[in-house]
Amino acid sequence: MNFENILIEVDDAIGIITINRPKKLNALNKATIQELHEAFKALNEDEDVLVIIVTGAGDKAFVAGADIAEFADFSTSEGAKLAGKGQELLFDFVENLETPVIAAINGFALGGGLELAMACHFRLASDNARMGLPEVSLGVIPGYGGTQRLPRLIGKGRAMEMIMTGGMIGTEQALSYGLINHMFAQEQLLPQCKKIASRIIQNSPVAIGKAIKAINAGFIPGENGFNVEIMSFGECFGTEDFKEGTSAFLEKRKADFPGK
Ligand code: COA
Repeated sequence: MNFENILIEVDDAIGIITINRPKKLNALNKATIQELHEAFKALNEDEDVLVIIVTGAGDKAFVAGADIAEFADFSTSEGAKLAGKGQELLFDFVENLETPVIAAINGFALGGGLELAMACHFRLASDNARMGLPEVSLGVIPGYGGTQRLPRLIGKGRAMEMIMTGGMIGTEQALSYGLINHMFAQEQLLPQCKKIASRIIQNSPVAIGKAIKAINAGFIPGENGFNVEIMSFGECFGTEDFKEGTSAFLEKRKADFPGK
């Protein structure tokens, strides 16, 4: 895979995607969103990749938002298309991947950057990270799912305040809000992400994919998450991973999941 705006490496079943436009604080332009879509799709389909970590290049930013220069002269229909296409290609796409995706927030995560982090399955941050949805300061609203995912993660009142003020919060506050799960010194962020990823990797990839689907279902209007859980639970009984997991337990050995 040849990309201009992102870097990919695979190390020990962990795929790392680095958004690589540090001079523009890794802002998400159209090309980067398309490349991210292709990279997430390829890593999700790669049976040797069991966890994906996404981070930003440099020590200043995860992603400082959608590329403002690119949409500054858009019309109403172009604006709606930008949000719709972006949600489809990247934000909804990442949220619904079967492979776990961890956001390693290594600096500014603003606008589309925080929205990307929120579309990931969970978030870890370095102690210098700053998070916010400043769109109203530009005369727009979050368009990549921010008005929906932020209240789900931190509660409606806090999300209202963050979105109306357009202000940034630091890692301590993000931790207390439950927006991030853990905070680390910057040089520890990726090693600690890999450490958590290596624990996930011990478990059944098929079961993890189904757990992601069932958890997400509870947040889809009209979908009954409990029913999705029941169906997915039942499906697990037909998998090789289930046979291996239960046999390994009964035989008092470590499971070696085939991922099928
Ligand atoms: N879109 C396009 N370019 C961006 C960008 C964005 N979202 N965020 C930063 N950049 C660019 C800057 O224009 C600048 O480019 P230049 O060197 O060619 O002028 C470069 O990245 C460095 O940013 P700069 O503003 O000089 O860094 P700073 O340390 O002074 O400020 C921020 C950092 C994050 C506070 C500031 O860049 C910022 O407010 N960015 C926009 C955040 C935002 O509103 N995001 C939501 C978009 S919907």
